[in-house]
This record gives sequence, C-alpha cells and structure tokens, in this order.
Amino acid sequence: MSTARTSATSRDGRIDAGSDRYARPLIALHWVIAIAIISMLCIGFYMVGLPRGLPFKSDLINFHKSLGITVFLLVLLRILVRLAYGRPPLPPMRTWQRAAASITQALLYVGMVGMPLTGYLGSSFNKYGTKFWGLALPQWGSDDKHLREIFFGIHGTIAWIMAALIVLHFLGAMKHQLIDRDGLLRRMWP
Ligand code: HEM
Repeated sequence: MSTARTSATSRDGRIDAGSDRYARPLIALHWVIAIAIISMLCIGFYMVGLPRGLPFKSDLINFHKSLGITVFLLVLLRILVRLAYGRPPLPPMRTWQRAAASITQALLYVGMVGMPLTGYLGSSFNKYGTKFWGLALPQWGSDDKHLREIFFGIHGTIAWIMAALIVLHFLGAMKHQLIDRDGLLRRMWP
C-alpha cells in the first residue's frame, strides 16, 4: 500500500497540508542543519567580538571552521537527497505566498552553500588556514589581507541576510501553524 497521500480537506473546510510529508532523510537533515546553522551564526557573531590573542578565541574559531565544513558536507548531501526525493506538492495558497516561500527557500540554499565557501576562502588567504577536525585542508592562496577582507566581508554580510531569512522562514511557518492552521508544519515535523 502506498504511504503517499494527497492534501485533504478537514471537516471544518480547512486545507490539511499535513498529510503530504517530506521524505524522512530530508526531515532529519532539515533539523540537524537548522540547529547547526543557528549555532554557527551565534558562535560566529560572538567569537568576532572576543579580544585578540585570547586562546579561547582561536579554539572557538577552529571549532567554527570544522563545524562549518561539516555543515557544508551535510548541505551537499541534503541537495542530493532533495533532488532524489523531490518534495510533496504545496497546498493551495495565494500566488504571492507561494512566490515568497520559494524565494526564501532558494535564498536559504544559496546562503547555506555561500556561508561555508566564503568562510573557507577567507581562511585560505590567512596564514592559519583551515583544519577540519584536525586535518589540514588545502589553502587556495597565500596570506593576503586584501582578499581575506573581501571574503570575510561577504561572509559577514551573508550571515546577516541568513539570520533575516531564518526569521522570515520561521514567521511563515508560524503563520501556517497558528493562523491558517493548515498543518503545513507537519510536513517537515520529525
Ligand atoms: C554554516 C556555515 C557558517 C556560518 C553560519 C558562519 C557564520 C559566521 C558568522 C555569523 C561570523 C561573524 C561575521 C561577522 O560578524 O563579521 C563568522 C565569522 C567567521 N567565520 Fe564563519 N560561518 C560558517 C562557516 C565557516 C567556515 C566553513 C569557515 C572556515 C573554514 C568559517 C570561518 C570564519 C572565520 C575565520 C570568521 C571570522 C572572520 C573575521 O575575522 O572577520 N566560517 N562566521
């Protein structure tokens, strides 16, 4: 018997989108990556404010780099799984809502790939390089302050855009859950 069901209409006439669920591996990756990225944003903003020369600061930066590369690998896996499984059809909603959701999600994917790449590239033009849980990764250049500042500038800008997108994404999910009450959150709930 197939487990896939289509969106249903409940007795009070509301659309119930919760009967169409994302594939389990995608649900797991969504929540693991969400927690990791929110932690990475908090760690990133906190560590850049720490005074220079503090041993704790360099430990935290190394942890940030390793976790960031791990997130990158998980995001690549997520993109592959998403391409393999697709996503359940969206429930009926207004055109602008559909467009807003699609644009936010597409930009989140761009940010999820762009954050680690710009962090890694910035670190490549630094004498410290990047260690991935102790393993030295290739550097793409020598110590270059100008290039480093360009990539870290982009890294910092995307971080703020990501933070705003995560808030928008969360508010959208809450609107569906609390105002529309269409069960959309259940599609992605573990
Ligand atoms: C999900 C991935 C990542 C997120 C969400 C993230 C987030 C952040 C944030 C919020 C900051 C502070 C930005 C600022 O206010 O200037 C930061 C700084 C930094 N990040 Fe990341 N990061 C990620 C991945 C990486 C990776 C993979 C590396 C390196 C391999 C890296 C290296 C750095 C470094 C060295 C800084 C300090 C930059 C500076 O000194 O100005 N990040 N990151």
